[in-house]
Amino acid sequence: MKVVLIGSGNVATHLGIALKEAGHEILQVWSKTFLHGKALADVLHTTATDDLTKVDPEGEIYIIAVKDDFISQVVAELNFDHQLVVHTSGTVSIDELAVHTPHYGVFYPLQTFSKNKSVEFLSVPVLVEGSTKEVGELLFTLAGTISNHAYKMSSEERSVLHLAAVFACNFSNHLYSLSSEILQQRGLDFNLLKPLIAETAAKIQNHPPNEVQTGPAIRNDLFTLAKHKELLTNYPDLKDIYEILSNSIMRSKL
Ligand SMILES: NC(=O)c1ccc[n+]([C@@H]2O[C@H](COP(=O)([O-])OP(=O)(O)OC[C@H]3O[C@@H](n4cnc5c(N)ncnc54)[C@H](OP(=O)(O)O)[C@@H]3O)[C@@H](O)[C@H]2O)c1
Repeated sequence: MKVVLIGSGNVATHLGIALKEAGHEILQVWSKTFLHGKALADVLHTTATDDLTKVDPEGEIYIIAVKDDFISQVVAELNFDHQLVVHTSGTVSIDELAVHTPHYGVFYPLQTFSKNKSVEFLSVPVLVEGSTKEVGELLFTLAGTISNHAYKMSSEERSVLHLAAVFACNFSNHLYSLSSEILQQRGLDFNLLKPLIAETAAKIQNHPPNEVQTGPAIRNDLFTLAKHKELLTNYPDLKDIYEILSNSIMRSKL
């Protein structure tokens, strides 16, 4: 398909590379900041613009991969009346695109993407939804060209999946970050935790997460819990997080 990428961030970059590798033609990249669009366009050997009125009208699909809060605004400014437009958000409803064109949909890759980290796209679940049966089928077929895991899913189900993904991925990563800061403040090396982090993620591939929970909260080791809170005396935010998560783990035992 002839693809126009609207956005040049993490998702636009990974989708652009995967689609190009699968044989699709990336006609153009639009981005708010010209240099960001140009950087991605160079990788994809195509052209860039920061002017929505100059977006190539010959595209067969326009993939909007901008921040969730600006999807509506960008699509409105594209001023399309019949083109196929999709967004890549986990939570924004398909209905947000309804007022702009009859051909619209969602093309949501369920993975954590960072520009500077490559991803094996074939293993990424891609959740699609179309404004019509035909659009849904087309997006499903397109997803199948870059992934072995294409699914059709409603906006409502997708937003629940995204919520769960925020807990599983974004919150976990933030906890890694806090954990790294705790060690850094005492001159200790975060690398020491990497085998533990890898094993935690590996374990849940074959076991329900609640069955492999370990640590002082699940054991109800009150002395250790108290000692940890004492160590966090000067870090009230960390202490709050520690208490909320420990209480949640203790309740999960009931
Ligand atoms: N990252 C993930 O792991 C992930 C996974 C699945 C789905 N998604 C979804 O994919 C979409 C893009 O996420 P991302 O992580 O790729 O974001 P990102 O890396 O932060 O990139 C954001 C993009 O939005 C553009 N942008 C920022 N402010 C804007 C504005 N006011 N008007 C128009 N464009 C603006 C940026 O343009 P400039 O840089 O040119 O200023 C950039 O192209 C979101 O809907 C997100 O929910 C993300």
